[in-house]
Amino acid sequence: METLLLTTSEEDIEKAASILKCGGLVGMPTETVYGLAADALNGSAVSSVFKAKGRPADNPLIVHISETADIERFSLVREFPESAKKLAANFWPGPLTMILPKGDNIPDEVTAGLDSVAIRLPSHEGARALIKAADTPLAAPSANLSGSPSPTTAQHVLDDLAGRIGAVIDGGDCEVGLESTVITLCSTPPTLLRPGKVTLEELREVLGEVALSSAVLEKLSDTEEAPSPGMKYRHYAPKAKVYLLKASDEKFRDFINTNAADSVAALCYESDIPHLNAKCLSLGEKGNYDEEAQKLFAALREIDTIPDITTVYARCPGTEGVGMAIYNRLIRAAGFEVTELE
Ligand code: TXA
Ligand code: MG
Repeated sequence: METLLLTTSEEDIEKAASILKCGGLVGMPTETVYGLAADALNGSAVSSVFKAKGRPADNPLIVHISETADIERFSLVREFPESAKKLAANFWPGPLTMILPKGDNIPDEVTAGLDSVAIRLPSHEGARALIKAADTPLAAPSANLSGSPSPTTAQHVLDDLAGRIGAVIDGGDCEVGLESTVITLCSTPPTLLRPGKVTLEELREVLGEVALSSAVLEKLSDTEEAPSPGMKYRHYAPKAKVYLLKASDEKFRDFINTNAADSVAALCYESDIPHLNAKCLSLGEKGNYDEEAQKLFAALREIDTIPDITTVYARCPGTEGVGMAIYNRLIRAAGFEVTELE
């Protein structure tokens, strides 16, 4: 199959929408990461998303809508509680996904058999135009091959999925760069399952009490059940081995310079670069978590394009604000190990 590269022009959005209406798959830009979209109400189209990505069948997808009213229009949920309405009013359109009791209209393929469904209203104009033109909610996981870093450019989508999907719409570099925040409203209190640009602090300001799933900052033990199936998989990992180093500027730089070799790269801040004798990938200005989030996945992908790199030493962010989302992705890339340099 030839994968069309489309723009966000009206004509191209119509082309992409017709692919979706025929049960095909389209790479869709969003403000977080690119998604791999299918008609959420067509079970066989949704199944082909799992095949194209090599995604485990027990990992459910997010349903994307173009306005809050779509929830009722397409009977997506059994219940739309007051707490969800508050979150929608504060954070939609935007990088927040809510887990709600599943409506009967949603095929089991979307939710991997769960009784709940994940819903998100993205702010990217290209995404919303596509959902409107397709006239159906779109089920979309991140548009990467399962296990690799999520795509933040149309080229990343082609690198992983060219030949396997009908089209990708180039909507530019993703502004946020990390996947949406996922919160479940099916628990009391609501629980943060995946941190993102909408922070735990912001959710608490709106809802009061919000619990933090233990899987956000740590590895689940083998006997614990994942509250969100996606959290149990190794993820976001380049082929090179990633080590996450918790250290002061000085300790980090000393460590890199002591261990420098052709096979070693540093995932670091701009201010580290003049002090390091190793290949460096910059995550921007230290302390600017928005910039770090935006750059992280492209940097993880770039590592695999540099010949001979087998080891990556990465700086460990804090867990406040958007730092929690970056930390959550990096511990998965690093196989859940953090090394503290004393
Ligand atoms: O920003 C995003 O959320 C992107 C863009 C494309 O919207 N999408 C995305 O999808 O990241 P994906 O499939 O890579 O991640 C969805 C996460 C997974 O961890 C999945 O397990 C969880 O949401 N999830 C989906 N439905 C769920 C449910 N009913 N209950 C618990 N977790 C659910
Ligand atoms: Mg994903």
